[in-house]
Amino acid sequence: MNVRFSTEPLHQVQCDALTVGVGPDLDGAILELDAGFDGKLIAELRQRRFSGGPGSLFSIPTLGRLAARTLIVVGTGDGGAAALRTAAGRAGREARSSHAQTVVLALGHDAAQGLDLVEAAAAGSYLFQPYKPETERSPEVSTWLLPGAGSDEAACKASATRVRWQGWGRDLVNLPAADLYPESLAAKARELAAIPGVEVEVMDIEACRRAGYVGIVAVGQGSDRPGCLIHVSYRPQGAQRHVALVGKGVTFDAGGLSLKPSSAMQTMRCDMGGSATMLAATGAIAELGLPVAIDCVVGAVENMVSGASYKLGDILRYSNGVTVEIHNTDAEGRLVLADCLIHASKIEGVDTIVDAATLTGACVVAVGSDFTGLFTGDDGLATELLDAAAAVGDGLWRLPLHKPYNEALKSDFAQIKNVGGRDAGATTAALFLEHFVADEVPRWAHLDIAGAAFLDKPNHRYAAGGTGQMIRALTTWAQRLS
Ligand code: BES
Ligand code: MN
Ligand code: ZN
Repeated sequence: MNVRFSTEPLHQVQCDALTVGVGPDLDGAILELDAGFDGKLIAELRQRRFSGGPGSLFSIPTLGRLAARTLIVVGTGDGGAAALRTAAGRAGREARSSHAQTVVLALGHDAAQGLDLVEAAAAGSYLFQPYKPETERSPEVSTWLLPGAGSDEAACKASATRVRWQGWGRDLVNLPAADLYPESLAAKARELAAIPGVEVEVMDIEACRRAGYVGIVAVGQGSDRPGCLIHVSYRPQGAQRHVALVGKGVTFDAGGLSLKPSSAMQTMRCDMGGSATMLAATGAIAELGLPVAIDCVVGAVENMVSGASYKLGDILRYSNGVTVEIHNTDAEGRLVLADCLIHASKIEGVDTIVDAATLTGACVVAVGSDFTGLFTGDDGLATELLDAAAAVGDGLWRLPLHKPYNEALKSDFAQIKNVGGRDAGATTAALFLEHFVADEVPRWAHLDIAGAAFLDKPNHRYAAGGTGQMIRALTTWAQRLS
C-alpha cells in the first residue's frame, strides 16, 4: 500500500473511488463536482435528505462523468477530528466494498490531518478474508491519494508502515485458534527478525519451567499445545529511552476448569490481542527506525480443559517470591502476565513497562469497545499515553489503580489469590499485576483492551473482529519519546 498527494482537480483524478466529504450544509468540494452531473448531484442529495452527519454515505458509479469510477460522498458532521475520522473510516469501508484499489480521500480536512485520515480510512477498509471463497474477496486498497501539495515522501511511507502493522496485528487476532496457537504465534513474532536491529528469542515450555515461570506453565498445562515466552528485542543506535512492551498471548481462552459458557467462548481466539498489539507496535517502531530500545515480552498459552489442567486451590510460587492461590482458572491472563512482568523487570535499563491484555470482562462493562482502560500510578506516563492515543483517535480512558482494593486479593492460604470479586474487577486485576513489577522499574502502565481489541459485530469504525486499536497510539507514543 502507498500514499501520495495529488494537485490535480478532483474531477480529473484517475482513480477507482473518489471520496468527498460533505457537511450538513452540502457545500465544499462537492459543488465543484456537481457541474459534471449538470447540477443533479446536489439535487439528488437533497432529495434523499442526505444529512451530512459523520459517516452518512451516498455512493454512485460515475459512468464516465468524472475520471473516477465511483463517487463516494461521506458526511463529515461538524468537521471535527472525530467526525472526520469516522467519515474516513466509512469512506474506506465503502471503497473496499466497491473493489477500489486507487482511492482519493478529499474530506475537506486541513493539510496536517491528511495522513492521520488516510490511516483511519485504511483501518476502515480492512477486511479479514483468507477463509472466504475467492468469489467473495475484494482486493486491498493499494494507493491512497490526498488532494494538495502535502507532506514529504518519508511521512507518506511512515503512514503506510503504521497501517501495515495495524493490519498485521488484526490478522493475528482474527486467525482461528486452530491456526494461531503458541508456537505459530512465536513463528509470527519471528517475522520481526527481518527488521534491522531486531532479535527474536523464544523460550519453550521447558525453558519456562527452568526459569520458574509458573504462570505460563500452570495455565498452559491443560492444552496439548505447549506454551512459550516470546521475547523480541529492538536495539537502535542512539536510544535514550528503553521501553518494555508486555502482551497477553492466550491464543484461546476456554476458561480452564472454570469453563466459560459456549457463548462467552465463541470469540476467545481474541485473547492474544495484547500480544498482537505489542508485537505489531514493536514491528512498527522498529521498521520506522525510531531511536527507542524496545523489549517485547509475550506469554503465549492456551487455557484449556483436560486431565492435566491446573486446578482451583492450587498455589503458584512465582520466581519473585509472590504466592498465588487459584480461585478461578478463567482469571488466567494475569497469571501469564505475571511471569512476563517479572521477565521484563529483569531486563537491564528498562525505564518504562507497558502491558496490554484482554484481561477483564469488567473493563468491557465499564468502557465498552471504543475504549481501552488505562491503569497507572504515574501521572506523567498517563498523560503521555492519553495524548498519544488522542492524536490517532484511539479511545483510552484512565481508571483507578486504587491501592486499598488490594484487600480484595487477600488469600487465607497464599499471599494473594487470583481474583478479587465482582466489584472493580478491572482494578483488582491491575492491582494483581502490580505485584510482579519490580520496585526498581521507574514507570509502569497497564492497558486493559478486553473491549477494544475485538468486535463481535462491525461498528462505525471497524469491521467485525480484531481492531488493532492502540497499535498506532503506542507507535506515536514511542515516536514522541525519542
Ligand atoms: N479473556 C478474559 C477476559 C475477556 C472477557 C476478554 C471478554 C475479552 C472479552 C479473561 O481471561 C477472563 O476470563 N476474565 C474473567 C476474570 C474473572 C474470572 C475474575 C472475567 O472477566 O470474567
Ligand atoms: Mn479467562
Ligand atoms: Zn483470558
